[in-house]
Amino acid sequence: MKLFIDTANLEQIKKAHSYGVLDGVTTNPTLLSREGSEPIDQLKKIVEVVKGPVSAEVTSLEKEGMVKEAKELAKIASNIVIKVPCTTEGLATTKELSLAGIKTNLTLCFSASQALLVAKAGATFVSPFVGRLDDISAEGMDLVADIKTIYNNFGIDTEIIVASIRHPIHFLEAARIGADIATVPFAVIEKLMKHPLTDIGIKRFLADWDKLKKKLDQE
Ligand code: G3P
Repeated sequence: MKLFIDTANLEQIKKAHSYGVLDGVTTNPTLLSREGSEPIDQLKKIVEVVKGPVSAEVTSLEKEGMVKEAKELAKIASNIVIKVPCTTEGLATTKELSLAGIKTNLTLCFSASQALLVAKAGATFVSPFVGRLDDISAEGMDLVADIKTIYNNFGIDTEIIVASIRHPIHFLEAARIGADIATVPFAVIEKLMKHPLTDIGIKRFLADWDKLKKKLDQE
């Protein structure tokens, strides 16, 4: 499973990139607004660090506006992927962008029917938002499993990005289901490698090592 980071924060992106396991980045208007800089400038800085797919979202609601924005965003770099919402206008936009060779990430996906239709329109990626479904007492991961089954049924190659991940169990479940990608906030990436037994083990090994060195020094 590929790992994307879900942030527009350059420091977090650089840090996660330095771990050597980062495959891409997803942003959205909320994440970019947190950084406070001009969005295009921020995206330019991000694509300098990460060579894998970097998602940038359109904010128009009509096809014409979305296509116009998408074409501008796509000029930033060849690895920019256009995030388009799962609406009927988004569907038509996806079809047009796909015919123009522009990659898309269909965002705010909350049903398997949406996921099937966006794939038919030529979506490169689809992003089911698991955390937001959990928030309303639905099983976010059930949606990911449904999409996986449907895509397998029809040999669809749209890649599933598990999004709105809130904790390490979401990441683990995404891998169990066989999702293509998990897009994970920085704080959760850090938690994925954290284990108290690893920390206790390191402490004990170092204490024993020190003991041995002291003993040898005294001889
Ligand atoms: O990847 C989508 C993500 O940014 C949304 O996450 O936590 O706002 O539901 P959240």
